[in-house]
Amino acid sequence: MKNYLELPGPYWDSFVGFLKRGVPLQYINKSAYFYKSEFFVDERVLIPRSETEILVEKVVEVIKESEKDELVVIEVGVGPGTIGLSLLQEISKKKIHFIGTDISQDALDVFKINQFKLDYKTPNHHLIDILKADRLSGIDKKADIIVTNPPYIKKDLDRSLVHNQVLQYEPHVALFLEDDQYNAWFNDLFNQVKNLMNSHGHFLMEGHESHLEELCELGNKVFSTSGKIQKDYTNRNRFLSYSF
Ligand SMILES: C[S@@+](CC[C@H](N)C(=O)[O-])C[C@H]1O[C@@H](n2cnc3c(N)ncnc32)[C@H](O)[C@@H]1O
Repeated sequence: MKNYLELPGPYWDSFVGFLKRGVPLQYINKSAYFYKSEFFVDERVLIPRSETEILVEKVVEVIKESEKDELVVIEVGVGPGTIGLSLLQEISKKKIHFIGTDISQDALDVFKINQFKLDYKTPNHHLIDILKADRLSGIDKKADIIVTNPPYIKKDLDRSLVHNQVLQYEPHVALFLEDDQYNAWFNDLFNQVKNLMNSHGHFLMEGHESHLEELCELGNKVFSTSGKIQKDYTNRNRFLSYSF
């Protein structure tokens, strides 16, 4: 991880210099606003995107509409904690056991920083567990809700559409999957979700506008039910959800 503030020379010492070089403002400030909070971010994690706030709203809605007073919510790929820590802040009348996974230890370290930073906003009756894992492997707890904003850009096919600043500074593990492993990666995830899901549970994910319909067909087969695709602020296919 680069520490911009320790780079030598007058040019690199200046804030404007970092900006001119294309370093994202959020990494320079070590701060990003998402939903209702300010999160610590650096180059170990993806900078949160505003469309993901829609995913938080959807999960909060599902939790509030649930008849249960205690729910298990699992998130795959927690990153800095933007989804998980935001939704926990919204739930005061129910108890959530939140389990978050990430394949990146760096990301989990940043999650812990934000868990501490936002502790004052998080109702203390919730339980938070995080673990380093590939998707849902190693988890045997049944879930009421599984949510994910996974890496969903095809490394070769979609690369030309990715901004150079993103390519240069954001962690590729948070962004890309190999083209030839893409569907198999989601097929495995969907099967893990199926095995862990409680009856009347919900699965919600963010995905790529060009690949979401194909993933929905895949999900329909694995889950034997029809998924729902929803759009983001720019009217692009962005979310896929299943209710069981
Ligand atoms: C698009 S980022 C989402 C981060 C955060 N949840 C958000 O919405 O801003 C994807 C996250 O998934 C993690 N990830 C990538 N592959 C994974 C895998 N196989 N299992 C678990 N997490 C993974 C990345 O490290 C990254 O933190």
